[in-house]
Amino acid sequence: MAAVLAEELDRQRNTLVMIPSENYASKAVLQAQGCIMTNKYAEGYPGARWYNGCGAVDKAEQLAIDRAKELFGCDHANVQAHTGSQANMAAYYAVLDPGDTILSLSVDHGGHLSHGQPTNFSGRYYRVHHYALDRDSEVLDYESARKIAQLYRPKLIVIGFSAYPRVIDWEPWREIADEVNALLMADIAHIVGLIAAGVHPSPVPYADIVTSTTHKTLRGPRGAFIMCKRHLADAIDRAIFPGIQAGPLMHVIAAKAIAFKEAMTDEYREYQQQIVKNAKALAEGLEAGGIRLVSGGTDTHLMLCDLRPLTLSGRDAANCLEEAGIIVNKNCIPYDHQPPAIASGIRPGTPALTTRGMKEPEMRQIADMMVRVLRNWRDPQVRAEVKKEVEALCERFPVYEDL
Ligand SMILES: Cc1ncc(COP(=O)(O)O)c(C=O)c1O
Repeated sequence: MAAVLAEELDRQRNTLVMIPSENYASKAVLQAQGCIMTNKYAEGYPGARWYNGCGAVDKAEQLAIDRAKELFGCDHANVQAHTGSQANMAAYYAVLDPGDTILSLSVDHGGHLSHGQPTNFSGRYYRVHHYALDRDSEVLDYESARKIAQLYRPKLIVIGFSAYPRVIDWEPWREIADEVNALLMADIAHIVGLIAAGVHPSPVPYADIVTSTTHKTLRGPRGAFIMCKRHLADAIDRAIFPGIQAGPLMHVIAAKAIAFKEAMTDEYREYQQQIVKNAKALAEGLEAGGIRLVSGGTDTHLMLCDLRPLTLSGRDAANCLEEAGIIVNKNCIPYDHQPPAIASGIRPGTPALTTRGMKEPEMRQIADMMVRVLRNWRDPQVRAEVKKEVEALCERFPVYEDL
């Protein structure tokens, strides 16, 4: 296992990590995840546990809760969800009964599995309808969503995406939810860091429930948390425990508290601003190289490349790029005719590269390398050349030097 870990460290150091949901957590966050709080059982909440000996873990969890509330300005925070999917499961469990109706965006338009995909629990236990992206502009179409909401009158409207590159205006969604008497849930798993830094508008004033991961743009440990309005606090807490989880991962909660603290600094705000600047520079470089971007660009940390004009699938593109040391994931594009396992697009993002200290000039260089690989995808020689350039670039921006 030591050898396997060394291999993964080498990969993280010497490739360009461009999966937008990945990042390099700080040493403090890593250390907390490996700390002795992993040994402690603490079912319940601070001050009300089912086990004894919880003095220190109570303090850790309270710190995480207080910092989440301070960072996002929410009424209530629950920091125990093990993952983003479980945060969503708890949110549904808190406010829905099986068979109730959810309105969300489908996976092929950028939504997430846990927003009602038929193969996921959410698609199995709830009745799910989807709003869609506009076919021409490839952005959210509020008017069509309003009509669909009026038609199906969902109990819960879910806003939040895995692969949508544009800013979300939360206010119209609140209006739509009010018009049909639905609750509004924002899943900010992807854009949470941008929101924490004020680089993207926050849903906290508008949504009844906000769920998020902590490991993507936030740059914390692998995990999640839930924020909600005061009147839903008990329902959310009971949904997490005893509803869908038992013992909380106290070492991960300690790491969440650290990540929230890190997110309060000026350095972090600059980091999040740079993520967006880098994404714009990367998008411009890709477009200049003839790659079509869904919706024509990005306002966030990610973009979707449509590879159909290159007669290349997302799967093959991601494999070619990996051979060249550039790690991205295949992704469906709106109205994709390919199944998700093949997909017509890729979804590059900049959070991890930005953590390494890369800026616009490096993004232009990376765009150029990606274009060369993609446009010459039949040529292994090009991939070999680019791989050397990638390694040289990684050497200039070292990461985890002291591990
Ligand atoms: C919008 C959104 N919600 C939820 C999740 C689920 O997070 P996890 O992988 O931690 O279950 C993701 C992960 O990709 C996501 O993109």
